[in-house]
Amino acid sequence: MEKKKIGVLTSGGDAPGMNAAVRAVTRTAISKGFEVIGIRRGYNGLLHGDMVPLDVAAVSDIIQRGGTMIYTARCLEFKEWENVVKAADICKENNMCGIVVIGGDGSFRGAADLSKAGVPCVGIPGTIDNDIQCSEYTIGYDTAMNTVVEMIDKLRDTSHSHERCAVVEVMGRHAGHIAVNTGLSCGATAVLVPEIEFDMNAVIKRIKEVRAAGKKQIIIVVAEGVGHTEEIARRVEAETGIESRATILGHVQRGGAPTVRDRVIASEMGYYAVELLEKGIGNRVVGMKDGKVYDVDIQEALSMKKPFNERLYRICNEINF
Ligand code: ADP
Ligand code: F6P
Repeated sequence: MEKKKIGVLTSGGDAPGMNAAVRAVTRTAISKGFEVIGIRRGYNGLLHGDMVPLDVAAVSDIIQRGGTMIYTARCLEFKEWENVVKAADICKENNMCGIVVIGGDGSFRGAADLSKAGVPCVGIPGTIDNDIQCSEYTIGYDTAMNTVVEMIDKLRDTSHSHERCAVVEVMGRHAGHIAVNTGLSCGATAVLVPEIEFDMNAVIKRIKEVRAAGKKQIIIVVAEGVGHTEEIARRVEAETGIESRATILGHVQRGGAPTVRDRVIASEMGYYAVELLEKGIGNRVVGMKDGKVYDVDIQEALSMKKPFNERLYRICNEINF
């Protein structure tokens, strides 16, 4: 009898650790007696039959690599129900009994739709932004923050030599989680995030105070959700007299070898996702709650609200000058 197959895909923006998750899904599924299909370029691969069999060897030597070996994409066609039905038919024709979807909220919406069309899907949160409501942690977040800190430490050196202010924009889409954690870790004089209203005059006053107290290098971290980074740098320079430079870190934050944390969590979540599919359970997202891996209904996951760590923000303001 033909073995049942489990599909795995990565969707939306890539994140370091996605490969580790693909590897964990593949190895777990094979050890449980399934065959594994790598669906390339997110939901596009499903709709256009771009799929590759993954065996134990195919996923060797990837746990340490950033990016995703099965590629990722943003597939707008999948928002249309007729395409979801088409994809479900393709899964059934290929004897696929479940799919693991590694990505963010949009990807989980697709997974919910596909589950409704009869193919059990389990989502795993993979995004550097850590903006997925149902999970305290998303794969890629730790690696991205370590990259940011490494980059800001370098900017700090040159800012110190020139006695400048570095205004640094970090990713996070509409969320300021990366900004507040990296700002705290880099001794930023101010962190600007979309979750908390700020007064630019107060930021300018603070910059003047720390310079008057003798601080040579000044770092301001701006979340991309706040934006206007160049403008902020120009204003700081004009109003403080301190030479300022804007740096938008950009996509460098999405690359690089995943940290231990990302490898471990990706492996744990990948394993857990296959355990669910083995039991025939779909329409779930695997997440992290109180430090433990758990699963939740996709619709419920999408309706949850994620708090912003205001305490961290306050600590930053109190101890970073
Ligand atoms: P990112 O935040 O990096 O865009 P997401 O995980 O939110 O990552 O991915 C968005 C992608 O999810 C879309 O481009 C699309 O390919 C896919 N998708 C599938 N179904 C839906 C849906 N119903 N709504 C939104 N996105 C969907
Ligand atoms: O969701 C990850 C992310 O890197 C966001 O931080 C950023 O807003 C967006 O993706 C950038 O997307 P793109 O790769 O399409 O430029």
